[in-house]
Amino acid sequence: MIILTCEIICFSIAIFGLIYIWFYYKFTYWLRKGVDGPKPMFPCGNLQKVLRSKEQFFQPYCDNYFKYKNLPYVGMYSFQRPVLLINDLDIAKLILIKDFEYFQSRGTFAGGPSDPLSENLFNIHGTPWKNLRLKMTPSFSSAKVKSMYSIVNDISTQAVKYAESFYAKQEAVNFTELYSKYAMEIIANVGFGVECNGFTNPRSEFYTKGTEYFDNPSLYWRLIRSLSFFAPDLFGKLKIKRITQELEDFFFNLVKNTVEYRKKHSYKRNDFLQSLIELKDGYSDETLKLSSFTMMDIAANAMLYMIAGYETSATTGQFAAYLLAANPQIQKKAREEIFRVLARHDGEFSFEAQNEMIYMNMVIDESMRMYPSMRAIFRRCNKEYQLPTGLVIEKGTMVFIPANAIHMDPDLYPDPEKFEPERFSSENKTKMHPCQWIPFGEGPKKCLGIRQGYIQTKMALVKILLKYELLLDERMTVPIKIKASSLVCAAEGGIWLKLRTLDALNQ
Ligand code: HEM
Repeated sequence: MIILTCEIICFSIAIFGLIYIWFYYKFTYWLRKGVDGPKPMFPCGNLQKVLRSKEQFFQPYCDNYFKYKNLPYVGMYSFQRPVLLINDLDIAKLILIKDFEYFQSRGTFAGGPSDPLSENLFNIHGTPWKNLRLKMTPSFSSAKVKSMYSIVNDISTQAVKYAESFYAKQEAVNFTELYSKYAMEIIANVGFGVECNGFTNPRSEFYTKGTEYFDNPSLYWRLIRSLSFFAPDLFGKLKIKRITQELEDFFFNLVKNTVEYRKKHSYKRNDFLQSLIELKDGYSDETLKLSSFTMMDIAANAMLYMIAGYETSATTGQFAAYLLAANPQIQKKAREEIFRVLARHDGEFSFEAQNEMIYMNMVIDESMRMYPSMRAIFRRCNKEYQLPTGLVIEKGTMVFIPANAIHMDPDLYPDPEKFEPERFSSENKTKMHPCQWIPFGEGPKKCLGIRQGYIQTKMALVKILLKYELLLDERMTVPIKIKASSLVCAAEGGIWLKLRTLDALNQ
């Protein structure tokens, strides 16, 4: 018995030793290629603090941009996987724009039988992505966004009422919650064609299930989500589900029932789901050589609206609100523009009126500079590629462009901690390097929902600013601490703001 136990211990030590040696061999990858970078540690590479929930996922990449600023790129590791961090904007331009064909994938888990809802435009790559992107682009055109505008306009009125319910009780408003409910309401209405009622019903099924998709609190699902991000290949091979069967069934059945109802009653609505239905019906387009678009494809791409549009627009709006509260002079200027534009449009919040709110757009641009929802843009090399420096990026290598660090670089943005919307006047914007400001990504895989993103972010804020002054609540920490457990850029503890009526402001 003792001998057997000894054998098991020796065997375990030998296995651990071999794994350890294998990891350390893998950790010499960048050294062998002559690329400098921070020392990796077993087993997480350069992500120890991320794994211990001490740092936000993209923080090590942002920190090393500044630490190795004199270098064009830095060699890092996500576990044993090599990641090339790009510091040089011209190289970023090659990867994202000019030589995009070598970097077509994001390297995220692209669905399949274990998670069919993930098989959407954001996660797929290669020819299927190219064909689908081509087909879907008209669904995000200015005309389409305009046709859905009235839905967003109504929901922004609900958001103001929600904020007012706190004002009536003399309580501060949690803008993190306000913007999450607002974004989810728009996703339910525009993306899925249903009401969410998250503002009035705290137990709204769509809201509960939607937020659970991003943040299932159980340890098991947190681990699964991390695995699908850190090791998508391994995750795919294990054939485990990325979300619960209950969630998958809920969203699939919701889409299926809505689509069937619309077909049965010949009912059409100006929303994203309708575009997907039309895509399915018109999918025999031989020129694009597309295989059939199934009900699951409709569900997966309705889910795209949630995956790509929820956290991104929710966090952008709340940071803009926070920055306006922290900068009263800029808030005043934004409000003056709102009054001026609305006066020209007889007080009507029309699509055209919001388009004329140029200073508000500059406020949003500057908010996204300081707090871009995706703190890094990432690609996976799909074909061996040689940089002008001579370095060969091998197929499969992950490449990260640290958007947040670039946005806070004092050489590109003097006094970067200062909130200064004028940086984004049309004159200043044209002088920027194409990869200097990348909150929506860049190149052929750039965000498709930019127009929708601006409108969503703007409308709730505009309507609140029209009636109230935004003030920082005592709960706000200045500067904001970035939430370590969130994949997107979010504020630890949330954004808490107080409202004060404009009459009080003018007294
Ligand atoms: C202010 C709000 C938003 C921000 C900051 C934002 C940001 C981003 C970023 C950083 C990417 C990755 C781009 C890249 O890898 O180069 C992305 C992709 C994408 N976004 Fe947005 N987004 C926002 C709103 C939306 C909305 C409302 C939608 C509507 C559904 C949307 C749809 C998409 C899609 C479809 C993609 C994937 C494009 C592709 O892979 O071809 N986004 N977004």
